[in-house]
Formats: sequence, structure tokens, C-alpha cells
Amino acid sequence: MLDKIKALKEEIEKISVSAKEDVEELRIKYISKKGLVGQLFNEFKDVPADLKKEVGQAINDLKDFAVNRINELKDNFEAAGQEQSGTDLTMPGDPIRLGSRHPLSVVKNEIIDIFTRLGFTIAEGPEIEDDWHVFSALNFPPEHPARDMQDTFFIEKNPDVLLRTHTSSVQVRVMEKTQPPIRAIFPGRVFRNEAISARSHCIFHQIEGLYVDENVSFADLKQTLLYFAREFFGEKSQIRLRPSYFPFTEPSAEMDVSCSICGGEGCNVCKYTGWLEILGCGMVDPNVLESCNIDSKKYTGFAFGMGIERITMLKYGIKDIRHFFENDVRFLKQFESAN
Ligand code: PHE
Repeated sequence: MLDKIKALKEEIEKISVSAKEDVEELRIKYISKKGLVGQLFNEFKDVPADLKKEVGQAINDLKDFAVNRINELKDNFEAAGQEQSGTDLTMPGDPIRLGSRHPLSVVKNEIIDIFTRLGFTIAEGPEIEDDWHVFSALNFPPEHPARDMQDTFFIEKNPDVLLRTHTSSVQVRVMEKTQPPIRAIFPGRVFRNEAISARSHCIFHQIEGLYVDENVSFADLKQTLLYFAREFFGEKSQIRLRPSYFPFTEPSAEMDVSCSICGGEGCNVCKYTGWLEILGCGMVDPNVLESCNIDSKKYTGFAFGMGIERITMLKYGIKDIRHFFENDVRFLKQFESAN
């Protein structure tokens, strides 16, 4: 019996394994209840009484030895397996790249921030509109060229359903619902049937502003726009207003801001004039107030509207409006730090 134990021990000592599954086989072969070592315990009852102590000790030692040996083989395998698959669980994970805000959103939010500091609230209107809100209520005469198929995307004719060509339609929606005082801005997407080029696109974004109350004057408009220009383009900015025409404002003006790139000296961005044209504005035409059931004898107001693409292009020196719509990440990610 003692010889048998010794032989078994030598056998176990020499075992080597080539696959992890083999370790489990060895466990069954040697140390399970019916395994070779396990059987020794069955044979133990036939051992003569005077040898029981010595043989019992030897069997127990063998069992401990076998268990340790098999565990050792198993551990070796697990450690080696990890190296082979190249998985090191202590390695830091791959960084997840964060997206960035679209430059148009960055600029839109900046403009919204400036006007909310002045007490303007934000409102939005539908992109699919009717003739009344885009044209008629805004004092466009029936034959005005802007109503032409060339400028406007019509969805249906008679009655007309169309894509709004400017955010001024939201002025009408807000004034129809609310009596003055009204002080709000309307950011949104607009559509014009124009050929796509570096300078113009058939889809773009505007922010409209509207202030209607008793005694609102042109001086209020000028001061509001000057404040905006200085907050957005820098505190040294100057503005100038040139007379213009819109059916829904009277008087109307176009506003230029001193070129923030050359400081007014003249450069290729401002075409050596020192000025950049950035928005249209004016006093709300009394006809528009009346169309929206606001008493034009009691109330006056001003409105302005600017293109977000244009302002973003000026701010960042972007030369082609089409970049905004291509969503090339190499372009988009450059504006991360801006917000
Ligand atoms: N709606 C005009 C445009 O799209 C801009 C504008 C808004 C002008 C409000 C005056 C007042 O060009």
C-alpha cells in the first residue's frame, strides 16, 4: 500500500498539461471521490490495524499534495491565458470622444444670452406657414416679388402653404396672441428658393427681435443694437444705420458693424470699407400692428432680423456657407472651445 502511494505521488509530480480543460480531467482522475487518490480511502479499511496510523497519514499527505499540484497547474494556466489574450484588466479604458456643438448653435446661444440679459424672452413658430403670417399680415402688397415662386418654396397653392422665408412670421404669431408689452426674440430656420453657392443657401437660420410697448422709439432700437454689437463683436465696435426698405417696418434700416477683423482699417473681409452689414431693422409698420389687433395709436415697436450663418462666418472667418450643412467633423470640432 505504501509503495502504491509513493508511485502515485511520483506520477502526480510529473504531470504536465497543455490545455486548461486537461486540468479538470486530472482533477476527476485523481482527487474526485472515485479518483485514484479517492480509491485509496476505500482500500484503507483493509489495512492491518498496526499500519493504519502510518498509511492513513500517507494517504492524507498524498491527497493534500495532489490537490495543491492540481490547483497550481490551474493557476498557471489562468495567468498564462490572460497574457495570451492580451487582456490587462488594469489598463485604463479607451477615451470616448465627446461631440461638439455646431457653430451655428454656439453663435445662436450667444446671441440669445445677450438679448435675455436685456429682458427679451424667446418664442418660436412653425417652419411650414401660410401666406398671412409670412406676407399679408406683414404688409406685403399682393404683387410683391418676394411672394414669387422664384423666392418661396410653396407646398400648396390656393390656399397657399409654404416654407417661411423669414422669421418675421413669428412676429405676427406672437402679436396675434399677446398684447404689449412684448419683448422677445425668435430664432429659427428659414427657406428660400435660391441657388446654393459659397455665399447663399436655400436653408439658413435667422434671429428676429421684436419690442412693442408705449413710447418705443428709434433711439431705443439704436441703443439695443449698439449694446448687442458691443457684447458680440467687442466693446470697441461701432454701428451705423443705412436707410433701407422692408414692407413691415417704417422707417427701415440696414445695420453695419465696424469690421472686427481689421478694427475698421479695411481688409478683404469688409472689402476695404471698414464695415460689415449684419442685419435689417426698423420701426414696426402701424399696418402690421393693426393686422395683429394691436392699437397702433397707443403702441409703437421696433423689429430686427439677422442671419445666423452670416454672423458666424464673420466671427470665425468661414468662407463658404456650405460648410455648415455638410457636417464634416473636421470642420465642426474646431468650435469646441467656443462653448
Ligand atoms: N425679415 C427681414 C429679412 O429676412 C429682416 C428684418 C426683420 C427686417 C425685422 C426688418 C425687421 O431680410
